[in-house]
Amino acid sequence: MKTTGGTDDQKRRAGERAADLVTDGATVGLGTGSTAAFAVRAIARAVEEDGLDVRGVPTSFATRELAREEGIPLASLDEVETVDVAIDGADQVDDALNAIKGGGAAHAREKIVDAAAERFVVVADPSKTAATLDRAVPVEVLPDARTTVAARLRELGGDPTLRSAERKDGPVVTDNGNLVLDCEFGAIDDPASLAADLSATPGCVEHGLFVGMADEVYVGTDDGVEVRT
Ligand code: 5RP
Repeated sequence: MKTTGGTDDQKRRAGERAADLVTDGATVGLGTGSTAAFAVRAIARAVEEDGLDVRGVPTSFATRELAREEGIPLASLDEVETVDVAIDGADQVDDALNAIKGGGAAHAREKIVDAAAERFVVVADPSKTAATLDRAVPVEVLPDARTTVAARLRELGGDPTLRSAERKDGPVVTDNGNLVLDCEFGAIDDPASLAADLSATPGCVEHGLFVGMADEVYVGTDDGVEVRT
């Protein structure tokens, strides 16, 4: 799913500024996506060049591979109880710092890691910001529940589409072996209420509404970083 119109420079500024938050001895949530990847690379440089002592908790298989290649010491999700700081991207962020995530189909693990963080920082470019969330909400579903969850999403006013793989025939399969329904709801005026309804749907493993979770949003611009709190 194509989700962004930001430039690499904007993403890099956001990611690198957020990486500066990582202190010696920290357990760091490593987000997924092209913006979070700039933070991962910056943390890796600090490990290599400054001897920064961290353990990274990756939010996806792709991020684990990147962090491993870049030389960040890793811990798996089931080894940690808390995370000091998590740095993660988003597909859209509203003025209240609520976010839609899951453009990379990683939102289930992302939500676990980001929720476990003392400090959760979203890194984004200006194309991701909006007064009101209105992008499609990714919903990870157990494969057998795709039809019943889709029916419930329609009852909730949504228009779900099974996410297809871009490079091969068939659906996207998440790192957890599940499917993703991208659900259009139009403008989401009450994200907390919709999030509660989605969470209560049997067969919904996790949805991409991150409500009241982010502590800060770093928006990379053409000449700096705007910090939203
Ligand atoms: C993955 C995510 C990503 O953080 C989100 O899609 C943003 O990605 P990018 O920085 O590449 O635009 O939620 O599940």
